[in-house]
Amino acid sequence: MLRVEGLSRRFGGVYAVQDLSFDVELGELRGIIGPNGAGKSTLFHVIAGHLRANAGRVLLRGEAIDRVRPDQRAARGLGIVYQGARIFRGLTVLENIMVGAHSTTRHGFFEAALRFPLCRREENQIRARAEALLDQVGLTGLGDRMAESLPLGQQRAMQLATALAANPAVLLLDEPASGLRSAERRQFARLLRGLCSQGMTLLLVEHDVALVTSLSHKITVLDLGRVIAEGAPTEIRADPRVVAAYLGSVEDEPS
Ligand SMILES: Nc1ncnc2c1ncn2[C@@H]1O[C@H](COP(=O)(O)OP(=O)(O)OP(=O)(O)O)[C@@H](O)[C@H]1O
Ligand SMILES: [Mg+2]
Repeated sequence: MLRVEGLSRRFGGVYAVQDLSFDVELGELRGIIGPNGAGKSTLFHVIAGHLRANAGRVLLRGEAIDRVRPDQRAARGLGIVYQGARIFRGLTVLENIMVGAHSTTRHGFFEAALRFPLCRREENQIRARAEALLDQVGLTGLGDRMAESLPLGQQRAMQLATALAANPAVLLLDEPASGLRSAERRQFARLLRGLCSQGMTLLLVEHDVALVTSLSHKITVLDLGRVIAEGAPTEIRADPRVVAAYLGSVEDEPS
């Protein structure tokens, strides 16, 4: 479904991502872990098209997309939730989700908000889809609430719905559960599992090793821009390079 081949990205003289290669299967949930600065977010930005690679290729369903603009990558089914993504404050939950859908339509959200007649039918379809997504992510009945009034766990579910509104086939999630409490995490994990069982392909960057190992089919471990290990969660947890490069550093962090 998604292939990265020899991908490199430098900032100045320093490689943030260096000669990275991996394949993600249709319907797979791929965990991506690695210490701070390992290159996880840079990798996602290059895949989504917001950063240009210095070398290598990205293939979606076997087609190279390196020359494809970010919005066109989204239209081809590549979605992303950025690390620390903001919500649209001052908009309702439903409106936030609708903004996500407008990234794939001919008319932008604000154009549609001005109610140009041409857009009205599209607008109604998008509203119906956003309402269905509310239910899917467990926010039934909260569509009219202001986005910023929701607790963090529900804001994250809303951000997931916003990304889903664009109908991604492959969704890149960069620390979508950071800051959530354990009950909220478990709920979020259930949502992600549900998406995969419906055939969506997910790439999940996550520092919570317990969460990522419980969710992932396979895990890719990055350190200093390179893949240092890849395999099933049980293999990864036992890999001494991973323990040294990553698990050790996590245990050093204050909890
Ligand atoms: N725009 C930029 N300009 C210069 N250097 C950058 C830029 N973005 C990232 N870097 C550098 O690239 C390296 C990889 O950063 P990146 O944000 O991809 O790491 P990460 O694995 O996502 O880390 P974290 O777990 O903290 O989110 C780091 O050394 C970082 O300082
Ligand atoms: Mg990051």
